[in-house]
Amino acid sequence: MKSWAVASVLMLCISGAQAKGAFDDGQDAIEYRQAAFGLIKENFADMAAMLKKKKPMDKQVFIERAQHLALLAPIPFNGFHVRGADDGSTDALPEIWTHRSEFDAIANKFQQATTALAVASKEDDLKALGKAFGAVGKNCKGCHDQFKAE
Ligand code: HEC
Repeated sequence: MKSWAVASVLMLCISGAQAKGAFDDGQDAIEYRQAAFGLIKENFADMAAMLKKKKPMDKQVFIERAQHLALLAPIPFNGFHVRGADDGSTDALPEIWTHRSEFDAIANKFQQATTALAVASKEDDLKALGKAFGAVGKNCKGCHDQFKAE
């Protein structure tokens, strides 16, 4: 197939969606990051339930949740760079844009903590696992306290 034909087929595939998307449009960027945070929460909450013995610990499942959390951790932060992503139906506080380096620093620490949790999940040291989990949670709370509306 000629390259223009490939391109037009691709355009047909996305023609149902608007040409503008999460990386061009502020409101789409807001929805994109909120959806990513929603998936983060589901994985995080399931691990919390296992650690707090609200459901049986299944090591394989826990490892999978931890690995998925580490994969998801960078994703919402792509939704803060688009023009207009600070204005719309969002709980993101304006301080994100006025204190960008602080926000980015917590986002980076959060991502490192999720990677460490994925590593710890493969060991059999429950105490170390709890610590690694707590370190992730500290970053959720630290960022929300400073940068997210109630
Ligand atoms: C570096 C900052 C930062 C970190 C780290 C962070 N969040 Fe958030 N979170 C935000 C911001 C900002 C919003 C508001 C997004 C919006 O409404 O546009 C948000 C929104 C959310 C939401 C609501 C999504 C929705 O549907 O509106 C949930 C749930 C959430 N975060 C869970 C978590 C959990 C769980 C963690 C840790 C495992 C975490 N977040 C880590 C900044 C952060």
